[in-house]
This record gives sequence, C-alpha cells and structure tokens, in this order.
Amino acid sequence: MALFSFYSLLTILNITHRNRLKHMNQQSELVFRFLAEPTDVNFGGKVHGGIVMKWIDQAGYACAAGWSGSYCVTVSVAGVRFKRPILVGQVVEVTAQIAHTGKTSMQIFIRVKCGDPQNNILSESNHCIISFIAMDKAGYPVPVPQFVAKTKEQKKLEQYAIKMKEIAIETESLLHRTVEE
Ligand SMILES: CC(C)(COP(=O)(O)OP(=O)(O)OC[C@H]1O[C@@H](n2cnc3c(N)ncnc32)[C@H](O)[C@@H]1OP(=O)(O)O)[C@@H](O)C(=O)NCCC(=O)NCCS
Repeated sequence: MALFSFYSLLTILNITHRNRLKHMNQQSELVFRFLAEPTDVNFGGKVHGGIVMKWIDQAGYACAAGWSGSYCVTVSVAGVRFKRPILVGQVVEVTAQIAHTGKTSMQIFIRVKCGDPQNNILSESNHCIISFIAMDKAGYPVPVPQFVAKTKEQKKLEQYAIKMKEIAIETESLLHRTVEE
C-alpha cells in the first residue's frame, strides 16, 4: 500500500510537471547566433575545436533544460564532425533540436553553420548528437517529457539519434572490456 501511494505521488508530480511545461511554451528547438571572436582562435588562426565544442554543449544544454524543465548534465557526444574551419569574424549559427527522448535522457541533434555576415550565406561546419540527462535537485536522474517525432524528417532523425546513443553506450562498454578503470 505504501509502495502504491509512493508511485501514485510520483505520477501526480510527473503530470503536474508536464502541465507546468505546457504553460511554459515548451520548445523542441532553439538557435544561437553570434560572431566568432578573436579570443576564439587557435594556433592556426581558425576557431579552436574546443570552443566549437563549448558552443555545442551550451546550445544543447539550453535545449535540454528548456525541454525537460530541469537542470541537465552532458553524458556523451556522438558522431562529432568538423567539416570546415570557422573563421574569426564569421557569423556562427548553432541549432539544437530534440531528436529523441529516453526515460531520463535527451538526444539532441546539433548543427553548426558559419559564413560571412555581409552576405549571410551559411554553410555547415559541424554536427553531432549530444546526450543530456535531466537531474533533480539532489543530483539524481529524473524522467523527461517524451518527444514524439511527427514529420518524416523528425522520424528519420530520431532513428539516427537512437543509433548514436546505442553506439555511445557500446563504445563505453568496449572500453571497459579493453582497459581497466
Ligand atoms: C549523467 C550521469 C548522472 C548518468 O549516470 P549513470 O548511472 O551512468 O546513468 P544511468 O545508467 O542511470 O542511465 C541514465 C541515462 O543515461 C543513458 N546513458 C548512459 N550512458 C550513455 C551514453 N554513453 N550516451 C548516451 N546516453 C547514455 C542511459 O541509457 C539512461 O537513459 P534513459 O533513462 O533515457 O534510458 C552520470 O554519468 C554523471 O553524473 N556524469 C557526469 C556528468 C557531467 O559531469 N557532465 C559534464 C558537466 S555538465
């Protein structure tokens, strides 16, 4: 009986949480736009790869926190690709969109584009799937609202994100089988 009450309470809290999110104009996608600055440069004169990863993490975090209504932590990044360098002074556009949700995790597709601000023609420089876990105030994973892919593109992206999550988990278990912690 005590167990039943505990789970009933959790269900009520979860529904309340979801309703609160509905009122918050929950969004599954966001875009950051800014200029690459001289302080972002590496020894080769282009934007540092670590800086790009920081932008990816920040956009992914904002998307995950906005979707879940919780503080979130990064758990893995999969399929990171650096396709072209980003130059100082270029416009950078980082798009983050929920691709898949698990129980406590969110797989977010990130696409980074860059280009000359004078013509605003942007080309893709990076993409990846970054996974976040929603956390409660005590630091434990909490369930997230489920994302339902509706369009054909969203459904295809969800399949890709599921595959990337599986690869990230499999890669980790391969490492455990290879080296001692
Ligand atoms: C994130 C963290 C809480 C996960 O804890 P954990 O015990 O390993 O995770 P669990 O086994 O409970 O799994 C939680 C979720 O993560 C998913 N997960 C686990 N490993 C993963 C990976 N490599 N990639 C993607 N998702 C992964 C699980 O599938 C599960 O998802 P689901 O609930 O949607 O099914 C823990 O690893 C942690 O605190 N990491 C440090 C986070 C951090 O400091 N990030 C950088 C600064 S924000």
